[in-house]
Amino acid sequence: MSMSNDLKNSFLSSAKKSTFLLNLFAGCFSFATKFRTKGNRNNKIIYTGSLLSRTKIHIKGEDNSILIAPKNRLSDCKLNITGKNCKIVIESNCTLKKLELWLEDDGSEIFIGHTTSIEGGHIASTEGESIKIGSDCMFSHRIEIRNGDSHSIFAEGTKIRINPAKPVIVGNHVWLGADAKVLKGSVVNDGAVIATGAIVTGVVEPHSIYAGNPAKKIKDDIHWDRERV
Ligand SMILES: CC(C)(COP(=O)(O)OP(=O)(O)OC[C@H]1O[C@@H](n2cnc3c(N)ncnc32)[C@H](O)[C@@H]1OP(=O)(O)O)[C@@H](O)C(=O)NCCC(=O)NCCS
Repeated sequence: MSMSNDLKNSFLSSAKKSTFLLNLFAGCFSFATKFRTKGNRNNKIIYTGSLLSRTKIHIKGEDNSILIAPKNRLSDCKLNITGKNCKIVIESNCTLKKLELWLEDDGSEIFIGHTTSIEGGHIASTEGESIKIGSDCMFSHRIEIRNGDSHSIFAEGTKIRINPAKPVIVGNHVWLGADAKVLKGSVVNDGAVIATGAIVTGVVEPHSIYAGNPAKKIKDDIHWDRERV
């Protein structure tokens, strides 16, 4: 699931060379795409060789990076960063539609592995934690993945936080049904299927189907295919 060294090096070397304006020029591949940066100090947006249509990128803060590998298609997406040192990495051959990537606080990260498709939804990374999504995943409409709750809950009468953000990992070849949600600290292992409307709050075993709220295993030893055979 981690980015290959070659890809990482090519991103880093182009990131060093590039400027925001250069990347706007590279935006000959974009259609009706809007950028807005505030602070605009050392923020990097690289999407050369990808097609972005009706997509908005807003950054407020500094030293953030958005690295979109070639051969990706993003349409009607919103990429929002508020903070410092946040990172979005999208590997190649992904098709992302109506997707909002939301990063807040310093050091928050979202990684999407190659050949993953998402029909729509919201992925929110906060409190400096990460969301890592593997390759060849298939996510349906209105999915939600979050590594935090966005607001604080304390033990009564104390300032002790009981709901800190925790990283989320989604493995390779995972299918999220429509309206499925994956909450903080969850690990969805390779080949799993999450039923429509399910809410995942923990560990999902590989090659299994989980359904309900909170999601429970309903079948195991399965594999799935994008094709109707
Ligand atoms: C409700 C919520 C805030 C509770 O957070 P928390 O106190 O840290 O709870 P935990 O993650 O420790 O989970 C505690 C238990 O509740 C269950 N649980 C948590 N959220 C659940 C949910 N949405 N539905 C059903 N069960 C849930 C967990 O499975 C866990 O069960 P267990 O003890 O049997 O393992 C959080 O789970 C949640 O729903 N977060 C999303 C918040 C949101 O939508 N924010 C958007 C911006 S407003």
